[in-house]
Amino acid sequence: MGITFNRDSGIYHLFTNNTSYQILLYENVYPLHLYWGHRVYDDNCAWQLEAPYRRAHILLHAHPDDPGFSREYLPFEYPCYGTSDFRSPAYDISDWRGHGVSDARLISWQILSGKPELEGLPSSYCGDVDEAQTLILTLRDSVSGLEIQLVYSVFENSDVITRHARFTNGGEHDLRLNGAASMSLDMKHGPEQMIQLCGTALRETHVEKRALGTGITAIESLRGISSHQANPFAAFARRDVTETCGEVFAISLVYSGNFRIQAERDMYGSTRVQAGIHPHQFSWKLEPGGVFTTPEALLVYSGEGLGGMSRRFHPFLRTHISRGEYRDQVRPVLLNTWEAFYFSFCHDSVLELARAARQVGIELLVLDDGWFGHRDDDRSSLGDWYPDAKKLPRGLEGLCRDVNALGLKMGLWVEPEMVSPDSELYRAHPDWCLHVPDRKRSQWRNQLVLDLGREEVRQYIIDALSKILDRCELSYIKWDCNRRITEAGSAALPPDRQGEVMHRYVLGLYRVMKTLTERFPHVLFENCASGGARFDPGMMCYFSQNWASDNTDAVSRLSIQHGASLVYPPIWITFHISASPNHQLERPSSLQFREHVCQPFNLGYELNLLNMSPEELEQIKAQIQRYKQLRNLIQFGDFYRLSSPFEGGDTAWMISAQEGRHILVWYYKPYARPEEAYLGIRIPYLDEHARYRQVGTDRIYHGSILMHMGLTIDWKNGDQFSQFWHFEKI
Ligand code: DGJ
Repeated sequence: MGITFNRDSGIYHLFTNNTSYQILLYENVYPLHLYWGHRVYDDNCAWQLEAPYRRAHILLHAHPDDPGFSREYLPFEYPCYGTSDFRSPAYDISDWRGHGVSDARLISWQILSGKPELEGLPSSYCGDVDEAQTLILTLRDSVSGLEIQLVYSVFENSDVITRHARFTNGGEHDLRLNGAASMSLDMKHGPEQMIQLCGTALRETHVEKRALGTGITAIESLRGISSHQANPFAAFARRDVTETCGEVFAISLVYSGNFRIQAERDMYGSTRVQAGIHPHQFSWKLEPGGVFTTPEALLVYSGEGLGGMSRRFHPFLRTHISRGEYRDQVRPVLLNTWEAFYFSFCHDSVLELARAARQVGIELLVLDDGWFGHRDDDRSSLGDWYPDAKKLPRGLEGLCRDVNALGLKMGLWVEPEMVSPDSELYRAHPDWCLHVPDRKRSQWRNQLVLDLGREEVRQYIIDALSKILDRCELSYIKWDCNRRITEAGSAALPPDRQGEVMHRYVLGLYRVMKTLTERFPHVLFENCASGGARFDPGMMCYFSQNWASDNTDAVSRLSIQHGASLVYPPIWITFHISASPNHQLERPSSLQFREHVCQPFNLGYELNLLNMSPEELEQIKAQIQRYKQLRNLIQFGDFYRLSSPFEGGDTAWMISAQEGRHILVWYYKPYARPEEAYLGIRIPYLDEHARYRQVGTDRIYHGSILMHMGLTIDWKNGDQFSQFWHFEKI
């Protein structure tokens, strides 16, 4: 059922198997936030609102039309500004007279089966209407005519609640929306810390924890894309939270542009949590009848620490965000040409690499950057999506045909949102890039960003890509994006709509991706933005996997993958075994260590097999065979973090698959330590009354022993030691 309304108490109760979320309708007009947390079984607790320190204020001037009425003491679901709430508002408007005051009150509500789509935006979906239920609260500000729908969808079995807001100008004058959060709520017993994923290029998704003090703590991006620096996710947690215990209130935004997620702790310790499009330089003109929809926020509560949070996010994202043919299919083992060849290749060298790839069991060959225009380095040709006849005299079609004839699938790299100033496209359409008149056009990797808010630009990209995909037998596209947005102006919009450019860009990108993924359902699309600079659920509504970082060093990848796994399922996180010493950090690593670091995720290769010894090629062949045997368990199993690289050195991960029948455990020690003779690891998530056979050996372990006494780690001196166990329940 998922949603009920108790008319006596005025409480909407949104519940999942393990979570409750309650909204109190205050004086029949204001939706107040009453509770989000562990499942409760009563919806008659309006008295919860009357915290002793506030009681006097609330009871004295209870009615909204009483001049003494104060919002300051109330926990809102979607607060406004300009009357008596001085915390950050959920939305910000200017009316036609320039005033910013609003007072939106409930005018109607409804409960629906299933979940509505968000116009123009990607969002979670339910396969069948019984999987979700939706509550829509409609508020109206009578002076401006602004209507706001607060939309809540409850996925009961997934323990996930989604939220977004939809604005309509129901008045007679233009309005301007200067900020519009996807969600907002005021938590009475606020969490004490914020956990975030941040970093930079080559150091994505690093876990950081911050104490929440009085005032605002935020994670945000103003780079035009969700960014390396800040993943659009935050977990607000109790002080004592660990991987296995404690309360976590997590938010993940289904959005790929400028965003902000923040917590604002007030003078009473109550915490307002908000997430949505970043309001800086955002402004949306709403003409009478005009509609604006915010992106969706995914809300996950876990009473079982960060591990419990991830095990709610992973299956939800895999089945309610991922779409298309690949959603439930194992992913091919690919070889990417980037670190093998960079820009220097030709038809014959690619084919030779493909032959070697076929020999070791690779299934898909991906031709990376450098195949189009006259691109011999990163200074030209973005936008000119036709093959370089010098490198590929038989064209892309010819190359695909030859690669396919070897029994390999073929994939291709593209970066369609960009244009090089040295390109036919730029010479023909210099106004198609984002720019501001009379200002320089800042370049980043020698490129500019196309204005995807424009229909003709979107059509150009769709046509160019469709032409390639129609003509060539391609099974895979790697979609890259190697710069951030600067000078965000559009030649196609009037001055009073320039504040819309950044969001229109993201909407345009979604429109392009929707068209292409629907037109080419057999193609596997991989998301990439200089590694993991745009790894978010918005993109993952169109892409089946994500290149998590350009850093392929195995030691660095332990942290990057560990962090990414807080939110994203391992099947989304791709990692390639690359050369040793590694090209980014020049650190050498054994093939086995690189294999073990890749194995629990979505494995590929990115090295020149033609430079490898016969022994190394045999090792790679054996790795690929092992991965193919385990791939189904890995890519569709439940992921557990047993030990964190962010808390003192060692990393350990586990996957439990097929209802716990298969248990895979990986342990990593990146650096040698003097005390390591006593290293051990406990595997807490087993059946303590069952027995487990270690696959490939005749050793049998009792579940209780593995859980409570644990395994001892083999003792081996030196850096970069790893060990793997596969247990089968008897
Ligand atoms: C950045 C990507 O992250 C790399 O994997 C590679 O595709 C390069 N771009 C190519 O320019």
